[in-house]
Amino acid sequence: MSLSLTEWEESELFEKALSQLFIEETPLHEAINYSLLNGGKRLRPRLCFEAIKALGFDVSLGLPVACALEMVHTYSLIHDDLPCMDDDDLRRGKASCHKVYGEALAVLAGDALLTKAFEVIAVSPVNNFYDLKRYLLELSYASGSTQLIQGQVFDIIAENNPNITIDQLKAIHAGKTGALIKASLRLGGMVAEANLQELEALTEYGEHLGLAFQIRDDILDATQTTANLGKTAGKDKQACKATYVSLLGLEQATVELNKLIDEACITITKLTVEPPLNLQNLAQSLKV
Ligand code: IPE
Ligand code: IPE
Ligand code: MG
Ligand code: MG
Ligand code: MG
Repeated sequence: MSLSLTEWEESELFEKALSQLFIEETPLHEAINYSLLNGGKRLRPRLCFEAIKALGFDVSLGLPVACALEMVHTYSLIHDDLPCMDDDDLRRGKASCHKVYGEALAVLAGDALLTKAFEVIAVSPVNNFYDLKRYLLELSYASGSTQLIQGQVFDIIAENNPNITIDQLKAIHAGKTGALIKASLRLGGMVAEANLQELEALTEYGEHLGLAFQIRDDILDATQTTANLGKTAGKDKQACKATYVSLLGLEQATVELNKLIDEACITITKLTVEPPLNLQNLAQSLKV
């Protein structure tokens, strides 16, 4: 019989697993752990765990996948902050990786995190329901040159472009942020032996939530203080980024965000007979 854990215990388990990934005492591993074990909301692992639990499985089965997701996410943040990208000095309430360890080590820490993510999945025991290849493919597709990385490329190209359309902006957000969020839910589903319909419900929820999360990030950048965010506030305007706030204004961006969250909550009712309350509550908590 397995005892269900509290959310706090799940987080503890996750943080412990994450802290055991890079144990060598080298400057590279120090830079990696500085960024990886440095707070963060851990949204992607949480979504993965909630998908697993909603389908009646144990979160512990999803630890390798959850670690892999957080590693890909952290790598993307380290690189996002580099001077050649968003040039951000602050991340998760502390100096960005490159400010402490220099650009070369920050680039390489990101590279190492991305690589390790696939290693951790490759050596993990997976269920027989989905082949190991499917897990690797899911994560590589979401992080790759047509999704997360493409989103980052378009995000940079869109700087200072006043003619960008809302559909183009949606594609940027879906790529740079949405893809990994959707993959977090789908991978959780795969760990929990989801059938096609269940995976489809998680996918739709993930698409809504992924876009919503980046709209929220755009809104917070324009409305919160640096102290609240733990990263430099007002950076998007300063860098002339294309965001929901720059395109639609604060009020309409908020309407869009809240609408997407409500749609996500409706969509996810298709996952299980009883509404998956944790996934619904999590989505609602992202409203502003
Ligand atoms: C920040 O992600 C970058 C985006 C994709 C919006 P998070 O807001 O999840 O950052 P952490 O992990 O909590 O630092
Ligand atoms: C970052 O988007 C997306 C990725 C890192 C893939 P942002 O550039 O808006 O994220 P923040 O605001 O720096 O956290
Ligand atoms: Mg960016
Ligand atoms: Mg940024
Ligand atoms: Mg942002």
